Amino acid sequence: MGPGRRLRRTSDAARVIEAMTAVDRLGFLPPDQHRFARADLALRIGSGATCSQPSTVERMLHLLGARPGDRVLDVGSGSGWTTALLARLVAPGGWVVGVEIEPDLVEVGRANLLAAGCSSARLEQAVPGHVGRPEEAPYDRILVSAEARSTPSALTDQLADGGRLVIPVRGVLHVIDRAGGELRDRSVAGTYQFVPLRAADD
Ligand SMILES: C[S@@+](CC[C@H](N)C(=O)[O-])C[C@H]1O[C@@H](n2cnc3c(N)ncnc32)[C@H](O)[C@@H]1O
Repeated sequence: MGPGRRLRRTSDAARVIEAMTAVDRLGFLPPDQHRFARADLALRIGSGATCSQPSTVERMLHLLGARPGDRVLDVGSGSGWTTALLARLVAPGGWVVGVEIEPDLVEVGRANLLAAGCSSARLEQAVPGHVGRPEEAPYDRILVSAEARSTPSALTDQLADGGRLVIPVRGVLHVIDRAGGELRDRSVAGTYQFVPLRAADD
């Protein structure tokens, strides 16, 4: 790896840590979970969902490599925490749209983003019959925080050329890049647990 690429990777890692320091997870948790906000644990947020484990979120954000100006889709926005972190990473000039299948969590996530003063991100209800949000595609980056049985082509179709998707598939994180119309899929060492990615009309 050349010095330029090494420097960029170091600064990307530093930006993820800066975002995770700046965006307080506590503001995205229900009161009964506040005491665990600093713990490296997935925490219950209601509707059978969790706010993902911080070390897993850090890993996924690092792999995603979102940069200022990017257009980002956050699938499974839950509490809105990852949406807010992504908004921080793509500022200035970028934006984030989160989609969530549980209507109660859409409301919770919206309230959390508002309270956090996060204006370059918004949340939408997942639309029955669609995965992601094709109407605003293409996206430079797509983060999926729910586990798929296989990578949905509906999501890779929403990637811009030069774009990247990070998704857990059967417990393994996959990083999928679109370049010149080709998809390159690599899996990353380690196993991770997520709630299942539901078909949007489940
Ligand atoms: C691990 S949880 C939430 C993580 C979230 N990013 C956070 O920081 O709180 C994953 C979420 O994915 C949602 N989900 C599952 N399938 C979905 C789908 N097809 N479209 C949108 N959201 C989905 C679940 O309802 C759940 O809230």
